[in-house]
Amino acid sequence: MSSLAVLHASQLVTLAGPKRPRVGPELSELGVIRDGGLLIRNGKVERAGPSHEVEKTVGDAKIVNARGRVVMPGFVDAHTHLVFAGNRLEDFERRSRGETYEQIAKAGGGIWSTVEKTRAASETNLLAQAKKHANWFLRCGTTTVEAKSGYGLTVEDELKILRVIRQLKEEVPLEIVPTFLGAHAIPREVSSDEYLDVVVTKMLPRVTAEKLADFCDVFCERGYFNIDQSRKILSVAKKLGLSLRGHVDQLTNSGGATLMAEMRATTADHLEQTDEQGIAALKKTNVQPVLVPGSVYALGSSRYPRAREMIEAGLAIVLATDFNPGSSPTPSMPMVLSLACTQMTMSPAEAITASTVNAAYSLNRGDAIGSLEPGKFGNFVIFDCEDYRELAYWFGLPQTHAVYVRGECVLKNNGDT
Ligand code: NIG
Ligand code: FE
Repeated sequence: MSSLAVLHASQLVTLAGPKRPRVGPELSELGVIRDGGLLIRNGKVERAGPSHEVEKTVGDAKIVNARGRVVMPGFVDAHTHLVFAGNRLEDFERRSRGETYEQIAKAGGGIWSTVEKTRAASETNLLAQAKKHANWFLRCGTTTVEAKSGYGLTVEDELKILRVIRQLKEEVPLEIVPTFLGAHAIPREVSSDEYLDVVVTKMLPRVTAEKLADFCDVFCERGYFNIDQSRKILSVAKKLGLSLRGHVDQLTNSGGATLMAEMRATTADHLEQTDEQGIAALKKTNVQPVLVPGSVYALGSSRYPRAREMIEAGLAIVLATDFNPGSSPTPSMPMVLSLACTQMTMSPAEAITASTVNAAYSLNRGDAIGSLEPGKFGNFVIFDCEDYRELAYWFGLPQTHAVYVRGECVLKNNGDT
């Protein structure tokens, strides 16, 4: 494998630090090296330091001049629903007229309408759509995503989605961590108890036997899965060896955060309605909150999760897009950074830590990605700006200049001058 040296970054944002997710004031410590350089050998970071020092050790490495741009780890998006068919333009238009997510779901839109389209799509067709989504992530500077199933809701359709995710991993440079979300909604054709039984006795054993997922997730919400049903699914998943994530307290506070703490989950996601009791529960077992402000924004709500209180409580906060066709149709981590800073009083530095190294730990990949330190993969992005704060400041503007995965350039912005 070839070697690569990137020199003269205005700021090399390394995120170097302790080998664990960052909390409190550590969230603001980005390990920035001015006029920084990076040496990658065999796909991994060998050195990160001042350009004049790295330059001395480049040997026969190919040299890329960053010309005063920002270089930082690729974003790690720890919550996406990457594989689905079609879109939800009807829902979008209804919402623009003031209807709520719950009203639209009752009227035939919502998750169910995407389930119908996804069931009807062939594996080949789903893969083609997923490839398009994967490319969108790379264009936004994301090099790793978590990807959930959840738009199949039968044994065969859930497995179909997870197989598409597995195939996608083979065919695109984006790194992908799969999550089983069979408990995303209750399908129309069966009762909730019958479906619970299918998830627990049919889906989970197949998913784990075929090693199709690292995590199990559940949508714990009024009208979807209640606390007891969610506990049942998560307990069985855990026994079968999966780590746990959960969509909790998104639309109502049902005690979902407390359940995730009780289950020793890796993450509790959404948390828009979580109160101080829920935050204290998460802290007790160090569950990582995954906050997804894109879905709050796209649903036209103003109830963002209490990020500041979570940081003050010492939680290792994560930011993600929640990319999906219904509540959060964006693959853009820079947009999420903007929302975190403008709506959740997070600083740009905190938002970057939450969307790189902390996100990596939330996917059990903290030893391999999320920061630019020796031994980790050379997954990084050159952004067309001089100061990392510009990523959250200029919003709606693509600033990606080039994207590298394991030291290979996988995307270059040719429109750039
Ligand atoms: O994370 N909350 C549940 N699931 C998704 C929405 C999925 C959809 O609307 O298709 C979410 O917001
Ligand atoms: Fe989600």
